[in-house]
Amino acid sequence: MSANLTATTEPDRTWATGNDDLTSRFARRNDVFGPSIWTEILNLFKHHTDPIYFGDGSPDKGMIPLAKLKEASAEAWASAPDCLGYGEQQGYEPLRHLIAERMRPLGVATSADRILVTSGSTQGIDLACRVFLEPGDVVLLENPTFLGATEIFRSWEARLVPIETDDQGMKIEALEAALIAEPNAKMIYTIPTFQNPTGGTMPIERRQRLVDLARARNVAILEDDPYVELRYDGLAVPPLAAFDPNVVYLGTFSKTIAPGIRCGWASAAPDVLRLLLANREVSDISNDRITMRVVYHTADGFLTGHVAGTLDVYRRRRDTMLNALSEVMPESVAWSKPDGGFFVWITLPEGMNATDLAIPAADNGVIYFPGHWFFPNHDRYNTIRLSFSTVPEDRIVEGVRRLGETIWAAG
Ligand SMILES: Cc1ncc(COP(=O)(O)O)c(C=O)c1O
Repeated sequence: MSANLTATTEPDRTWATGNDDLTSRFARRNDVFGPSIWTEILNLFKHHTDPIYFGDGSPDKGMIPLAKLKEASAEAWASAPDCLGYGEQQGYEPLRHLIAERMRPLGVATSADRILVTSGSTQGIDLACRVFLEPGDVVLLENPTFLGATEIFRSWEARLVPIETDDQGMKIEALEAALIAEPNAKMIYTIPTFQNPTGGTMPIERRQRLVDLARARNVAILEDDPYVELRYDGLAVPPLAAFDPNVVYLGTFSKTIAPGIRCGWASAAPDVLRLLLANREVSDISNDRITMRVVYHTADGFLTGHVAGTLDVYRRRRDTMLNALSEVMPESVAWSKPDGGFFVWITLPEGMNATDLAIPAADNGVIYFPGHWFFPNHDRYNTIRLSFSTVPEDRIVEGVRRLGETIWAAG
């Protein structure tokens, strides 16, 4: 990692005396946890009195259906105390039915018994690691990809093999070559729709080829699909799980309701689901049973319309960002044009370092995620992830102007 945005934190040993220093007893897999990126981001906020923050990959606060959530909470509590004991390890059954119903229009024929409710996709990734990975096992994944996932894979001591991507996701020839070079690869982790961080979507032919390659080599596919419902243009493309029932599919309510609710799901074939559930039970028993009811009563008969109502706002924000970028950026700068999701991915000229630039950008009142965080090997420095979902249009215009000014000054 580049020096500027990576403060090295020494372990806190102030509590330790003599032989009580347990740090030497920590498991080796904890070595993967370096300084938190959130500390680095918080430091950037100190550079300006009114920074514009393009880092947040969440729904806008104004899009969170608060009144409905309150109403749903009252309904959920009405079933207490019956739902306050242990139970529902696989998830509240009506919620699992509702999830299966919501997946059907996407083209995925799943059912309530194939669904495990999780504390968000994050837990789904973790559980899939517990089911499939031995230390040293190979996970093939997009280069760049979701930082949270790479940290989970690393914490399970996986060996990460990044696969080159373009604006249509993983390049299949590169994937095929990697599968030949790594004949024992265990898992392909992919975000095929409105990818984090690039915003790219894999077209149908590539999806079919990816699924065929994985099937031929008996490699598990972990499909992470948090943004699928947030499409602003173009035709829907079915998830990989629609092509092959063996795909382990992860969904979440984090982007359509709220990330603080911590509710998502895994849909998987029965053998896999049995082990996802067993691992879930030893980890934290079940989701919070009230929260599952809150999500159910919020989603039932409401969520589809609610999400449809948010699309216009997000579409306008995306368009505003793309237009602003065309107005201010030098010709040598390129960016993605996502059909949905929350992210625009910027590529600066080779040699320009977006990580170093984060500090002058913050001085100039704009904060972004440097792209190197998203490359599993942290080896590319000329990219930036901008999220438009939480920033009002006038602030997007001003933020992109500040960013353009910073880039011109650096070029
Ligand atoms: C690709 C991807 N997977 C998973 C997550 C985390 O989702 P959850 O809040 O459901 O754990 C995110 C959130 O940014 C994401 O972008």
